[in-house]
Amino acid sequence: MPSALPPGDPAPADGSLPAESLSTLGEKGLGFYVHVPFCTVRCGYCDFNTYTAIELGPGVSRQTYAEQAIEEVRLARRVLGRDRPVDTVFFGGGTPTLLPASDLVGMLGAIRDEFGLADDVEVTTEANPDSVDLDYLRALREGGFTRLSFGMQSAVPHVLKTLDRTHDPERVPLVVEWARQAGFEQISLDLIYGTPGESIDDWRTSLETALASDPDHISAYSLIVEDGTALARRVRRGEIEMPDEDDLADKYELADAILGKQGLTWYEVSNWATDATQRCRHNMLYWQGGDWWGVGPGAHSHVGGTRWWNVKHPAAYADRIGAGTSPAHAREVLAAEDRRVERVLLELRLANGLSTAALDEEGQAALPEQVRRGLVTVADGTIVLTDTGRLLADAVVRDLLP
Ligand SMILES: C[S@@+](CC[C@H](N)C(=O)[O-])C[C@H]1O[C@@H](n2cnc3c(N)ncnc32)[C@H](O)[C@@H]1O
Ligand code: SF4
Repeated sequence: MPSALPPGDPAPADGSLPAESLSTLGEKGLGFYVHVPFCTVRCGYCDFNTYTAIELGPGVSRQTYAEQAIEEVRLARRVLGRDRPVDTVFFGGGTPTLLPASDLVGMLGAIRDEFGLADDVEVTTEANPDSVDLDYLRALREGGFTRLSFGMQSAVPHVLKTLDRTHDPERVPLVVEWARQAGFEQISLDLIYGTPGESIDDWRTSLETALASDPDHISAYSLIVEDGTALARRVRRGEIEMPDEDDLADKYELADAILGKQGLTWYEVSNWATDATQRCRHNMLYWQGGDWWGVGPGAHSHVGGTRWWNVKHPAAYADRIGAGTSPAHAREVLAAEDRRVERVLLELRLANGLSTAALDEEGQAALPEQVRRGLVTVADGTIVLTDTGRLLADAVVRDLLP
């Protein structure tokens, strides 16, 4: 089962927000995240809020999910008003592409009807390579989707097997080709490095195979062992061994070098794009403290310093929506200091950097040592990680947030 929700303060049944949070709505962009909590099988490393048909239990059906999500979009309209069109929409999961394309297009249509979409709106869906074909991708493109993020993970069969990924690696170039034919001009591939048993050559193969499809964007995250997952149990039993920090650093450097050679440059520690127009604007909105409403079970939202999260199980979500009440489980109003800490944590990971003004006195005092050690540069009041600093980003953040 996916990990538990954080505690928090009670959330009002009508979904209402503090007036102060609403007063700055959309100043840094307005996004929608739509969670689709279904997967065919659960990958042993994943603790996202997603359910296979067996895990889902009785009384919940994929068929009625889009209608429920649309109800929540209507609630969002009542709470937020219609002052400003939506800049970005992101369908994630789970596996959004397990639903019919018409459901995804229908949910997007509800956001368009209730709020309006900006002329240059970015609309992404995550997609598993074995859950789409050309007709499906055409239906998404015609329905207003502009960006695809395919869960490739690796090109190497034994690595995919350890990750429990079900797709044939040969399908990835095929789905990218179909996506181009369907008219998508923003295609991202998600990769994972540091899977037990993955050699540096395996990782090189995955990177080169990904690049052979000419993607516009690559995300490469190291495999995290999440408590409670099958992967964590296998590691604990000693069946498989996680790589050490040096191996991960070598793989990160290799990624940066190979991607760089093909013209993809980093804009966030784990994300590379061919140019600024190919950056994921929805994720930038998260990282830069924008406002977004998360639709669906377990989805998190943030508006003007108020953060809330929905009830986790799809059955509980369906009950709340069916009763006409907000699906929010709890919320917290962030204090100014919490917002500052979060800002440092997220913006320091961006190539655009972090303003020195975001550091407190102790952080300012720690900065010269980070510069001396070659971990960051400071120019025009902006702190940017160096290549070495990117490898040690978490440690740099710890030092600047004493
Ligand atoms: C939760 S998935 C949803 C999209 C789709 N189902 C997929 O698997 O591609 C989004 C991304 O998170 C990654 N992910 C999930 N659990 C992870 C973990 N423990 N460590 C690193 N990446 C993880 C997945 O591999 C995937 O690329
Ligand atoms: S397909 Fe994606 S969301 Fe589903 S279990 Fe695997 S990684 Fe998690």
